[in-house]
Amino acid sequence: LDNGLALKPTMGWLHWERFMCNINCDRDPENCISEQLYMQMADVMVKEGWKDAGYEYVCIDDCWPSYQRDAQGRLQADPQRFPGGIKKLADYVHSKGLKLGIYGDVGKKTCAGYPGSQGYYETDAKTFADWGVDLLKFDGCYMNWTMLGEGYINMSRALNKTGKSILYSCEWPLYEWAYHKPNYTAIRETCNHWRNFDDVFDSWSSIKSILDWTSSHQDIILPVAGPGGWNDPDMLVIGNYGLSHDQQESQMAFWAIMAAPLLMSNDLRNICPRSKKLLQNKLIIDISQDPLGKQGSCTGKFDSFEVWERPLSNNRLAVAVLNRQEMGGPRGLVAIAIPGWKICNPQCNVTQILPEYKEMGVQPLLSKLVLSVNPSGTALLTITPIGKRVDMHKSHWQ
Ligand code: GLA
Ligand code: GLA
Repeated sequence: LDNGLALKPTMGWLHWERFMCNINCDRDPENCISEQLYMQMADVMVKEGWKDAGYEYVCIDDCWPSYQRDAQGRLQADPQRFPGGIKKLADYVHSKGLKLGIYGDVGKKTCAGYPGSQGYYETDAKTFADWGVDLLKFDGCYMNWTMLGEGYINMSRALNKTGKSILYSCEWPLYEWAYHKPNYTAIRETCNHWRNFDDVFDSWSSIKSILDWTSSHQDIILPVAGPGGWNDPDMLVIGNYGLSHDQQESQMAFWAIMAAPLLMSNDLRNICPRSKKLLQNKLIIDISQDPLGKQGSCTGKFDSFEVWERPLSNNRLAVAVLNRQEMGGPRGLVAIAIPGWKICNPQCNVTQILPEYKEMGVQPLLSKLVLSVNPSGTALLTITPIGKRVDMHKSHWQ
């Protein structure tokens, strides 16, 4: 969507995967969906280096509204859990130098059964704009699929009409794939990012299923990704319960390779230092936010390994090597050789970022490199060409 927003993949925090629809503030005041949760997250984001690392949006997901619209037909936040209202919360988040995201649905109800926006697109866009909301995640539950596209387009227009800069995150293709191949040109024109596939869960099988869906549909979804519009493989679940550290590194590496929005869903008030360091790794974030804005793709599979590459600015390349082996064989290090990269022409400089930072030095064209990749872990490299490039093909990823 050409609204001047999301020129790089969005970075921030979104409550859903970690906090879901926990509305029981009597029993669980610290973790229920309430204004306090977002205020505390905003505080921590400033204090603990998240904002400095680039994480900017604090996003509300489902279960925030009251079941009733007000007398003017406007959505209102649940009065018990959001006593100050969304406008005040937005002001608070802005006072911290951060932005606020909110959630709605193109259909009659949200997925959790709260009021949807069907029939109210202009009203709701205006309400969000009046409140000072900076991002809208728009879900697709309770909607006749033949009207999905029209609904998402109408909301996009309504947001535009408010004159405010509101980043528009859609789930249009996810709901459309159940029936037929979505029109990605229209989606890119309408949305700043879009979910294609199932909700992420805090498990390695969920991460693998997202990677598999992405690589098997890359011919369709890659060409439309770029500044202003991104494929969204859903939240980062790093720092929760379900992924080993190697698997957390894999998620971080691949979300950067996929030019995915980096929306963490975790408890930043209480996160393990190692996960924090990974989520704030500047070299990985630089890959994610690379100004060329090209999404990477799977370029090879052999034995238990998968190689993905993302072209970066200045003719550089990011390479991720995932070890899909999970059972049997020796636990620990696996040595592999990658055949020469065409970008090393005549030479390149190789830096390993994961599993640990290591300068691998100058490599000549077609050299072999030995990497160690733990089971379900990833080696992440950047490759910088040195010297004059002898023209082979234009570039091997096209
Ligand atoms: C859908 C979305 C999720 C989340 C829930 C909320 O499942 O895909 O990301 O927003 O709805 O109910
Ligand atoms: C950079 C790298 C070094 C080396 C030189 C070569 O400084 O960090 O490892 O490859 O370039 O010019």
